Amino acid sequence: MSALFDLSGKFALVTGGAQGLGRMIAEGLLRAGATVAITSRKADACEAAAAEMAALGRCIALPCDLSSPEAAVDLAGRVRAACGGKLHVIVNNAGKTWGGPVDSFPDKAWPGVMMVNVQAPFTLLRELLPELEAAATPDDPARVINIGSVAGKVTERLSAYSYSASKAAIHMLSRDLAGDLAARNINVNAVMPGFFPTRMTAHMRDAEDVDPKVLAHIPMHRMGRADEIAGTIVFLASRAGGYITGAEIPVDGGLVGCG
Ligand SMILES: NC(=O)c1ccc[n+]([C@@H]2O[C@H](COP(=O)([O-])OP(=O)(O)OC[C@H]3O[C@@H](n4cnc5c(N)ncnc54)[C@H](OP(=O)(O)O)[C@@H]3O)[C@@H](O)[C@H]2O)c1
Repeated sequence: MSALFDLSGKFALVTGGAQGLGRMIAEGLLRAGATVAITSRKADACEAAAAEMAALGRCIALPCDLSSPEAAVDLAGRVRAACGGKLHVIVNNAGKTWGGPVDSFPDKAWPGVMMVNVQAPFTLLRELLPELEAAATPDDPARVINIGSVAGKVTERLSAYSYSASKAAIHMLSRDLAGDLAARNINVNAVMPGFFPTRMTAHMRDAEDVDPKVLAHIPMHRMGRADEIAGTIVFLASRAGGYITGAEIPVDGGLVGCG
């Protein structure tokens, strides 16, 4: 059974893999045997995270700020050079949010969020199509996994207007691309996390204590754990997940499914 989830010999890119959810995902892929390239905006943080994760497997630091299409193209070039022509997995995890009341929600809260959360994943995929196709076979397709959010599926009342719109957009973009790329042996799925303890949800926690209102709202009454997001991504990246494409998969303690 463990061979079904084995990623030995595969090369994966995890954007934003130095910390937060991306770090949980990168560690899971490394433990499953993949070589993993991670990104962070800060070169020193990226190098330090890759060095720490080297205990789990081969981890490569590719610092970059995905605030422009040119930066995404540049990152794709460095991934191309690092992966030796075959890229098996992309996890588009890097994400940006902005919260504020509707009356004063600023126009500047839109372009950066849409760029990092929607356009950068598209540009990376477009640029890396030759490497994904080179890695893909009909029996074991290449995988693109886009990290969306429950906030793009159900109304969460977070006053994060550009964020929720961007996450709904990445879910739809994933399905659109899945339809177009199935014949080229590239699976594209969206994963929709609920609430995980990262920097993005820090305002909902006081140290380790989670706001009881947040927990009451989750059918399973707890936040997600590192193994639960990592396990979902390893499953989707592995032979076990080979028949899944165009899916929107909630990992959320029941928020979407039980709503
Ligand atoms: N935590 C949750 O409960 C939750 C729920 C639903 C969805 N998500 C999604 O999960 C993903 C990871 O978020 P997180 O919870 O781990 O939050 P986080 O700790 O704030 O991490 C955000 C990640 O995105 C990267 N990033 C932000 N702006 C970037 C930019 N301009 N260019 C390149 N990378 C950038 C960060 O990299 P550096 O800071 O290292 O540069 C970091 O790795 C996001 O897509 C988020 O929307 C999280």
